[in-house]
Amino acid sequence: MDYLKIEGIKSLNGTIKISGAKNASLPLIAMTILAKNSVHIKNLPSVVDINTLLKLLTNLGASCDFLDDRVVVDTSTITQTKATYDIVKTMRASILVLGPILARFGHCEVSLPGGCAIGQRPIDLHLKALEQMGAIINIKSGYIEASAPNGLKACNISFDKITVTGTANIVMAAALADGITTLTNAAREPEVVQLCEVLNANGVKIEGIGTAVLTIHGTNGKCIDIKEFSVIPDRIEAGTYLCAGAITRSELTLSNVQAKHLGAVLAKLEEMGSTFTLTDDTVTIHPSWDIKPVKIVTQEYPAFPTDMQAQFLALATQADGVSIIEERLFENRFMHVSELQRMGADITLNGNIATVNGKNQLSGTDVMATDLRASSALVLAALVANGTTNIHRIYHLDRGYDRLKEKLEMVGAKIQRLSE
Ligand code: EPZ
Repeated sequence: MDYLKIEGIKSLNGTIKISGAKNASLPLIAMTILAKNSVHIKNLPSVVDINTLLKLLTNLGASCDFLDDRVVVDTSTITQTKATYDIVKTMRASILVLGPILARFGHCEVSLPGGCAIGQRPIDLHLKALEQMGAIINIKSGYIEASAPNGLKACNISFDKITVTGTANIVMAAALADGITTLTNAAREPEVVQLCEVLNANGVKIEGIGTAVLTIHGTNGKCIDIKEFSVIPDRIEAGTYLCAGAITRSELTLSNVQAKHLGAVLAKLEEMGSTFTLTDDTVTIHPSWDIKPVKIVTQEYPAFPTDMQAQFLALATQADGVSIIEERLFENRFMHVSELQRMGADITLNGNIATVNGKNQLSGTDVMATDLRASSALVLAALVANGTTNIHRIYHLDRGYDRLKEKLEMVGAKIQRLSE
């Protein structure tokens, strides 16, 4: 297995190009199941999770052609509708194929995704909504067996909790349903917005895009033609590199980024002392030498994103004072804490609240990545730690960060990718 070797206390300088959003790409790839034509997708990030979902589609019989500036997906050749455990166990977002396969073919088997490191992550809300739309759902030997022989029916659905992939799944199911579906308490993340915008631009009228109430006018079983589109920039990748600028007190520019998706993240970085220069598609961070402590509560978009919690926790170790970080979405999303403590961070955990008593001089050592965003928190800590840090199990990082080592190297980080 590979590991990252990072020399600490390095200032950075230059520009990092942000890749397409992993969490927009996944539902958009699943959406191709609704298309009767080949779909050209530009700006897909080169990360493991994207390749996993494309592999899942090819296992069903679809074709995926990787061209230099796009991937062309043709699902007209799908011959089977079972997403097997071997793939789903490596990426729980495979559940995103459930809605579109059921809508198009009337039957679908998807392995239960199971939990993951950060929490149980149930999918009860996905299944309940599909049943409301007329699907018959059984759980058998670890698989979801879903059928809707007469197609899915539009209805009024209200999610008991806001769920990002749940919203995407139901929007895609409703796209081919018979009638008009309303979805209340829908997720408003930019990644869900793009899915709705692409469907709306290609024959599935959707009202309320970007709000918590979506109205989807189904095509009554007719597949759609989807014109070429480009995936939006990854706001979490961007936020991660902004934290790299803040924690190393380096001026960094990010290109191919949409600042409007980063409102809560920029606001919290400003609270901690940074200032920014924004243009249409770039963000430059001007970090402060003295980092101020911060209070953070993770919530659904547009509030502060849970996917940035670990990165800000690492940054908070460099703040002069006490920071409080509360994780409200997942029950076990503080596994980076013990690794940061091994580097010298002074953090106390009380349930889902982390108290960081900054400022801590971190020291390089061997640490282990435990999940995607925890891995990026360890990279940030390593950049500002005394000495060398070796970050093991970086396959977690490869799931969601496109060429992280190369991007940091380009702006001056002393970082190597080696094999154990
Ligand atoms: C998406 O996961 C993202 N993944 C996650 O990003 C992100 O952390 C999460 O949304 C929250 O923003 C993708 O988009 C592929 P949820 P998702 O359903 O959809 C509960 C990353 O680092 N819930 O919005 O699985 C659930 O337990 C990943 O890129 C139910 O109870 O998250 C959680 O507490 C990690 N029942 C809350 O809702 C359900 O049926 C939010 O989960 C569904 C969810």
